[in-house]
Amino acid sequence: MDLPRPKLFDFHGVSMITYFTDNWEAIQNFQARPDDILIATYPKAGTTWVSYILELLYFGQTSPERQTTMPIYERVPFLELTFPNMDSGTDLADQLPTTPRLIKTHYPVQFVPKSFWEQNCRMIYVGRNAKDNLVSFFHFDRMTVAQPEPGDWNSYLQRFLEGKMVFGSWYDHVNGWWKKKQTYSKLHYMFYEDLAEDTGREIDKLCSFLGLSPSAEEKTRVMSGVTFDNMKNNAMTNYSTDPSMDFKISSFMRKGKVGDWKNHFTVAQNEEFDEDYKSKMKDQTLQFRTEI
Ligand code: A3P
Repeated sequence: MDLPRPKLFDFHGVSMITYFTDNWEAIQNFQARPDDILIATYPKAGTTWVSYILELLYFGQTSPERQTTMPIYERVPFLELTFPNMDSGTDLADQLPTTPRLIKTHYPVQFVPKSFWEQNCRMIYVGRNAKDNLVSFFHFDRMTVAQPEPGDWNSYLQRFLEGKMVFGSWYDHVNGWWKKKQTYSKLHYMFYEDLAEDTGREIDKLCSFLGLSPSAEEKTRVMSGVTFDNMKNNAMTNYSTDPSMDFKISSFMRKGKVGDWKNHFTVAQNEEFDEDYKSKMKDQTLQFRTEI
């Protein structure tokens, strides 16, 4: 796709690009419904994985045709997205024929439209350890014209430390949503690493949060559908239908591993990162798994 790469700018104190701010007024006025489910993440933290789990839990049985005809980004609209020649996220959400509506956002918590809070909607936040999240974001930015030019790995890492990423600082994002969880009971905060360690256990937790009780058979079907290999080979979940991505450069379902950062960070970069991480996270109650 022949589009110039977007440029970062400051938007209410957060680094953003126009694709996620152009529709600001419509987004802020978006009318959430009480049964809407908002899936919130920092980009590349496992949004698509959790989206597909929810999609299969809710619609795997009742709307099997959706599974073969609608890419996941149409079934789970990206609230703040406006992109050339595509319906906006708010329009897609309003056109969804099924309930509950599953809606994805990468907004930091303070940007979420107020109707989601007023309607007391359920929300699911997925966190991923900073280093793997950064590596995944780097490869994603390489492959899509929808994101700013990433530059080389070292300058990208510096940008991450400065919080000059699309959707802002990872630290502000994960901690902002974590703080919200302390006062908003309908927020389920989960981690990519836990999902990778025991997908069935995390699906059980999700079901209990959502008030779902799938049969053992249904749960097995969901678990099989959402393995990395099956999602990578599924044209409706692997983004191969998205023209903004160049799969010759990387894949959307790239590795799906915990700890891939070890293949990217030099020892010096790791030390610099750890020191910065400690100082930014020292007053926070949120803890990511330390062995990663
Ligand atoms: P990698 O780039 O590390 O492979 P998002 O959906 O938020 O954009 O996140 C994409 C990341 O989640 C990618 O990480 C992708 O491979 C990973 N992912 C998606 N589905 C997965 C699955 N079923 N199992 C493990 N990882 C998955």
